Amino acid sequence: MNIFHSEKLFPMIKKQVYLETYGCQMNVADSEVVLSIMSDTGFGITHDAASADVIFVNTCSVRDNAEQRVRQRISMLKNYKRENPGVLIGVLGCMAERLRTELIDKGNVVDLVVGPDEYRRLPELVESAFSGQRGIAVKLSRVENYDDIMPLRTEGINAWISVMRGCDKFCTFCVVPFTRGRERSRSLKSVVEEVKRLSERGFKEITLLGQNVNSYQDGEFDFADLITRVSVVDRSIRVRFMTPHPQDMSDALIQTIAGNENICKNIHLPVQSGSNRILQLMNRTYSIEHYLGLVEKIRNAIPGVTLSTDIIAGFPTESEDDHQQTLDVIHNVGYDGAFMFKYSPRENTKSWEMGDDIPDEVKVQRLNEIIDLQQTISLRRNQAHIGTTLEILVERESAKSNDEWMGRSDTNKVTVFPKENARVGEIVRAKIHNCNSATLFGTLVSEPEAMSEYRLAVNS
Ligand code: SAH
Ligand code: SF4
Ligand code: F3S
Repeated sequence: MNIFHSEKLFPMIKKQVYLETYGCQMNVADSEVVLSIMSDTGFGITHDAASADVIFVNTCSVRDNAEQRVRQRISMLKNYKRENPGVLIGVLGCMAERLRTELIDKGNVVDLVVGPDEYRRLPELVESAFSGQRGIAVKLSRVENYDDIMPLRTEGINAWISVMRGCDKFCTFCVVPFTRGRERSRSLKSVVEEVKRLSERGFKEITLLGQNVNSYQDGEFDFADLITRVSVVDRSIRVRFMTPHPQDMSDALIQTIAGNENICKNIHLPVQSGSNRILQLMNRTYSIEHYLGLVEKIRNAIPGVTLSTDIIAGFPTESEDDHQQTLDVIHNVGYDGAFMFKYSPRENTKSWEMGDDIPDEVKVQRLNEIIDLQQTISLRRNQAHIGTTLEILVERESAKSNDEWMGRSDTNKVTVFPKENARVGEIVRAKIHNCNSATLFGTLVSEPEAMSEYRLAVNS
């Protein structure tokens, strides 16, 4: 495609690349772009690090513990190098972008440091590294969106499609605008083309991805236009999207989700805090009243919709009263699920300069209160499904038993049920008889029942 041919670079045996991915779904999608670039250059892909000639680690910087995990992993990779000194180790992704030379300077483990907008250069950088030249490529681009690269997907049911990259929101706690650069969108045409090809290949679900997926813009087309066009390509494909920002959640988008059966009725809408004072310090650009208004609008327009969120506990200056307001929002919205984090100060962000004045014990205590409350609510939301029938897309074997499948409803409820005659990739009906806060348990039913009985149940 856009890169040289293997024969020129590696004339004899096919070299093998191994890749590990950390962080968000954008990184998962980027890893598929990286594998596509490497395989077009003539590399084989291996799942065994010990037999690899090139080991890539696609990394995340969002919180300090995410970076610590990767650092530990990189230091473990030393062992592979000891066994096989010829192996190349490359750090990709957000840590590469944030830490740059620091990663190469420390010890002799890392040969390559390549940021998220420089993956096209990987073959060239790998070639130089094999001849002993360690390389760094961390320029951010205003235009790179890998529009023309068909990601190398290894999974056959769900496909991630990155439709925009970067973030211009600059929430004060967040490294993403610095590690991913400015917002830019792929063309609507190329996304729709990709969906057509995924449909031909039998994919059953696609997730449109972006750090602020709903600020997508291609000329006059916005995200509502994009998802509308995507959803009509193949009505049997379920369409999801991640992550929308509350500021860009337009009425048109809400109506589009409501009006298209195959757009999943689940919205992840990060709130971060329930206190207007903290939201302002975070530069989230909405008030809690606006957010709650949005939730109401969404619930009115999309019966049975499920909502999830992200929450940060212990942002600088957060008082007990601010924290209570966060608990109130969780209680009032009644989320189906949440990702809950302890505030982690990140160097060079605005909030870094605000100090990290909430003691760790207090952060932990607030986080635990948030988690406890959310678990109770998740359980209650799940219990509302008992006795109802859901349409489940069968994804894979359940982690706990090889006699059971795991799949999800369009409302994103993880459901486990005995395999019987169901197959991966099929949509089946499961009657729910039990649950915990994370999973529904059901049995297959064959008789046609009202499609989304559960929607009636939770709304009544
Ligand atoms: N673009 C998405 C989120 C990207 S990061 C959005 O705006 O919602 C995913 C989540 O990580 C954020 O929603 C936030 O809750 C959390 N996060 C980001 N930076 C953080 C930090 N410094 N400390 C703790 N949590 C953080
Ligand atoms: Fe980070 Fe805010 Fe952008 Fe999300 S919207 S990626 S939290 S800066
Ligand atoms: Fe992490 Fe980068 Fe994603 S910081 S959350 S991998 S955009």
